[in-house]
Amino acid sequence: MCGIVAATSNRDISQDLVRMLRCLDYRGYDSAGISVFGADNTIDLRKKAGPLSDLEELLAEKPVMGHSGIGHTRWATHGAPSDENAHPHMSSDGRVSVVHNGIIENYRDLINDLEAVGVECVSQTDSEVLAHIVSLFLKANPGASGKDIVKHLCRKVSGAYAIAILRTDKPDEVIGIRHQCPMNFVCTDGLAAISSDISSLIEYSRDIQVLKDGQAVVMTPNHHDVFDLEGNPGSSVHVVADWSVDKVEKDGFDHFLRKEISQEPEALAAFIKSAASNGEDLQAFLAERDIRKVVFLACGSASYSGVFGSIFARHLGLPMDISSEIGSEFRYLPPHVDKHTLMVAVSQSGETADSIGALEHAKSAGASVLAFVNVVGSSIDRLADMSVRLAAGPEVAVPSTKAVVNQFAASSLIISLLADKSPNSVTLWAQKCGQLAEAIAAIIAREDELITIAEKVAGHQSSFALGRGLDFAVSQEMALKLKETAYMHCEPMFAGEFKHGSISLIEYGMPVFCFVSDKSVRRKSISNIEEIKARGAQPVIFDASLEEDPDLKALGDYFNIPALGDPWSSIALLAVTHLVAYHSGLLRNTNVDRPRNLAKSVTVE
Ligand code: AGP
Repeated sequence: MCGIVAATSNRDISQDLVRMLRCLDYRGYDSAGISVFGADNTIDLRKKAGPLSDLEELLAEKPVMGHSGIGHTRWATHGAPSDENAHPHMSSDGRVSVVHNGIIENYRDLINDLEAVGVECVSQTDSEVLAHIVSLFLKANPGASGKDIVKHLCRKVSGAYAIAILRTDKPDEVIGIRHQCPMNFVCTDGLAAISSDISSLIEYSRDIQVLKDGQAVVMTPNHHDVFDLEGNPGSSVHVVADWSVDKVEKDGFDHFLRKEISQEPEALAAFIKSAASNGEDLQAFLAERDIRKVVFLACGSASYSGVFGSIFARHLGLPMDISSEIGSEFRYLPPHVDKHTLMVAVSQSGETADSIGALEHAKSAGASVLAFVNVVGSSIDRLADMSVRLAAGPEVAVPSTKAVVNQFAASSLIISLLADKSPNSVTLWAQKCGQLAEAIAAIIAREDELITIAEKVAGHQSSFALGRGLDFAVSQEMALKLKETAYMHCEPMFAGEFKHGSISLIEYGMPVFCFVSDKSVRRKSISNIEEIKARGAQPVIFDASLEEDPDLKALGDYFNIPALGDPWSSIALLAVTHLVAYHSGLLRNTNVDRPRNLAKSVTVE
C-alpha cells in the first residue's frame, strides 16, 4: 500500500509532488522520493529511506526543479526499506523513471529476461523492472506513444499495479496506469496531476477523474487521453469531491492516536446523524431485496465489527444466516452467495485490496453490497450498491480507533434494521446509540485508571484477551491494538475456549484481559476468571454493571462501566481497549501514530 503521485505543468511542480505526498504518507512511510524532468534535459531523482520529512530535508539540501515529475511514499513489499529500494526507480540509461503501488507477481521472470539482454537491476524491489522494460521498448521503438508504452508494459507484467511513468523523450508527458490499485487524476488549465488518493488533488480541483480498473491515462499540461490497457478509448469516472480535507493537526494532543480516541464520542454522534439521514433509504434498500443471508466482509479491526454483528444477530434471534468473513480468504474460499445475499462491507479507508477483491467476487455472484466506509469517494464507496458514511472524520493515526467504534455501531444498526422493519426502528436505534457516546466520554474521562492498568501490563510481552458472546469481538480489538500500538503479543479467545489448551501458557502474573459485559453469559465469564486466577494469572477485568461487583473486584484489576444493555456496553469497552493500548505503547516507546511495518491503507493482497 504505497502512495503514488505525478504532475505536469507549465511551471515547476517539484513542491507540488511533495505536497501531494504529504496527503499520502499514511499509505506507507518506509521511504519516499520524487523525480522530475530537470532543466538539463535529464531526470533528477531524490529519494530517501525514512519518513517523508527525511526526503524534505534532502530536497532542502539538494533541491530539484522541473515541469513534470512523479513521486512515491512506500510501504515495503519486496526489498527492505532503504535508499536504494525507495521509489522512483530509474532505467539504466536514465531515460525512464517509474513509481509503483502494488505487486508485480512475475518480477523474477522479468529480471531474468532483463539479465539475458544485459540489464541488471540495482534494487531488491519488484518495481524496478518496470523502468527497464519501458526503456528497452523505447530503444527499440523511438518516439513510441504513451499508449504504445502502456500496451507493451501491461502485456509483460502481471499482478496488481498503479504505475506512473516519466520519460525524457516526451518530458511534458506523464503516464498513469491502473490495474487493481487506485488512481485518480485532475486536469486544470496548465496543470494535470495524478494521485493514489483524491485528497491530494482537491487543491487543484474538486472535479476528480477516477480511473477505472484496467485503464490508463496519458497527460500533458493541457490534454489527457484515457484508454484501456489494450489502447481502446475509454472514459474515467467523474467524482465531485464535495467533502473538506482540512489539514489535520494534533490540536494540542501528543499524538494523533490520542486525539482520535478523544473524538470517539463526537465521531459516534456524527455516525448516528449519518445513519439517521440515510435511514429511510437504508430501510428501502433492505426491503426491496429478498435478503436471506448476510455476510459481513472486512479485514483487521474492521472485521471485528462483523464478528460483533453476527453475534448480535444471535442475541436478537434473527432467523437468518449471518456470518463474518475475512477479505483475504473470501475470494479463495468463497461461501455460497447469490442474489439473496447482502454483503456488508466495512472499511475505514475504503481502499483495502483484500476487501475490494472479495466484494467484486461477491457482486459477480449476484450479491448486493452495502458499504460502511469512512473515506468518501474511495473504491469501496464507489463499488457498493449503497454506501453509508461512517462519518468518523479523517483518521491520521494508523491504528484505527474512532472509525472502529463507528464500525461496531454500524453493525448494530444493520442488524437492528434487519430484526425490526418498523418505520421508527432507526430512531429507536439512534436513541439507544446516543447513550453510548456519553458512556465513551465517561470512559475517556477516567483515563488515569486505564493508565494505571497500562503501567501494570506494559512490561509483559505476552497476554490473552478473553470474552464470551459480544465481548469476544472486543477482546479481538484489545489484542490487535496491543499488537499494533504497543508491539505486545496478545491472543484473543472465546473465554470458554481458554481451558481447552491455551490455559497451559499461563505464567505467574501474566495479564489476561477479561471482558464481562455481555449479561447473557456473565456467570460463565466469572467462572473462567476464577480458573485463570487460580493458576497465577493477573486478571484485568472490564465489567459493565450498575454497581461494582465485589466478587469480581477481588479477582484482579477491575474497571467497571455503567451497564448500558446489549450491545452497547460491549461497544463502549472499545474505548478502554484503545486507551490501554495507547498508554502501553507510550510506556514501551513505540511510534503509536506510525507503528513499524504498518500502513493506514492496505492496498496490496
Ligand atoms: C486497524 O487498527 C488496523 N490498522 C487494520 O487492522 C485495519 O482495520 C484493516 O487494515 C482494515 O482497514 P480498512 O478499515 O481501511 O479496510
